[in-house]
Amino acid sequence: MSGNTIGSLFRVTTWGESHGAGIGVVVDGCPAGLNMTREEIQKALDRRKPGHLLSETSRREEDQVEILSGVFENKTTGTPISLLIRNRDQESRAYDKLKELYRPGHGDYTYSMKYGIRDHRGGGRASGRETAARVAAGAVAAKIIGRFGMDVIAYTIMLGGIFSDQGKNINVSHEIVDATPLKCPDAEASLLMEKKLAAMREDGDTVGGIVEIVVRGCPTGLGEPVFDKLDADLAKALMGIGTVKGVEIGAGFDAAGKTGSENNDILTPEGYLTNHAGGILAGISNGNDILIRVACKPIPSIAKLQRCLDESGRAVEYAISGRHDVCVIPRIIPVCEAMVGIVLADHLLRIRAARI
Ligand SMILES: Cc1cc2nc3c(=O)[nH]c(=O)nc-3n(C[C@H](O)[C@H](O)[C@H](O)COP(=O)(O)O)c2cc1C
Repeated sequence: MSGNTIGSLFRVTTWGESHGAGIGVVVDGCPAGLNMTREEIQKALDRRKPGHLLSETSRREEDQVEILSGVFENKTTGTPISLLIRNRDQESRAYDKLKELYRPGHGDYTYSMKYGIRDHRGGGRASGRETAARVAAGAVAAKIIGRFGMDVIAYTIMLGGIFSDQGKNINVSHEIVDATPLKCPDAEASLLMEKKLAAMREDGDTVGGIVEIVVRGCPTGLGEPVFDKLDADLAKALMGIGTVKGVEIGAGFDAAGKTGSENNDILTPEGYLTNHAGGILAGISNGNDILIRVACKPIPSIAKLQRCLDESGRAVEYAISGRHDVCVIPRIIPVCEAMVGIVLADHLLRIRAARI
């Protein structure tokens, strides 16, 4: 199985399944000499852990990260950084009944058809748990982009059809976002979202949502024409996260309904007057904030009775029990920040090869 690596110079390879011995990541290409402690990576992972909200899975993983290589005396050495997170709280027997079932909305059918074999426990490789490895790599990437004054911040702008009025609020801070249970800077909308989640849980159903991501402090010049445009690489990195079904840059789909005179960002001696481009032109960052929106589908595991197929081709009805989220938000937010950071770190290193 290939397709587990992203990046050209800053290369991130994740490995592991939900109910195997552990999951992990190898980060190759990180420059030497960056300060790096286990605690910094742990802090990033702690933000991804399930909290106490009704929205969240009750799998209680400590997600303690171990640094196996690439860091010596709290400094990166320039060699591959290998990070391990052991799985501890798996309840594999809860998945026994799913062994021969193709669950709707999951990769059970597609994995079986492609490989002829699959690890059914907890979704195997397609589990949301794999994203812990991405977050660990994102903590390394954050060190690189932080050096250049860049900051990535993601927050909830829609959950279950309830919209925040704080969209495109580029002044929002990490503190404000992390202080709210659903990582939504609009307190009123956040309360309605919580109620929606409680109702969904009661109903045995799930909902989706939209995450907005802002990159502040991005210099001009990141992105490689033509297949590795910055927007193309960001979209690929974000679409690779489970549940993500759409990525917009700047005005996104709205731009299609505008005229050129409405949509063009006018460049003046004082800078751009608007930012419909979302900080990227012709695949290269233009110095504006990068604005991204990510649409997430509802979690496929629902407690309601659903029709599905089993491995022998029989139509059956099944209600999924076990430990599942009601919505992927807010857990996906640190994952989005990590994937954007990984792409930016890669392009920051690549910019040095573009001009001498
Ligand atoms: C952080 C995170 C947590 C997730 N938690 C669950 C979960 O508890 N139950 C579930 O059925 N799917 C969960 N998913 C979603 C599935 O992994 C994903 O929808 C499934 O593999 C199908 O892939 P697709 O959404 O890309 O089509 C989660 C995804 C992420 C990113």
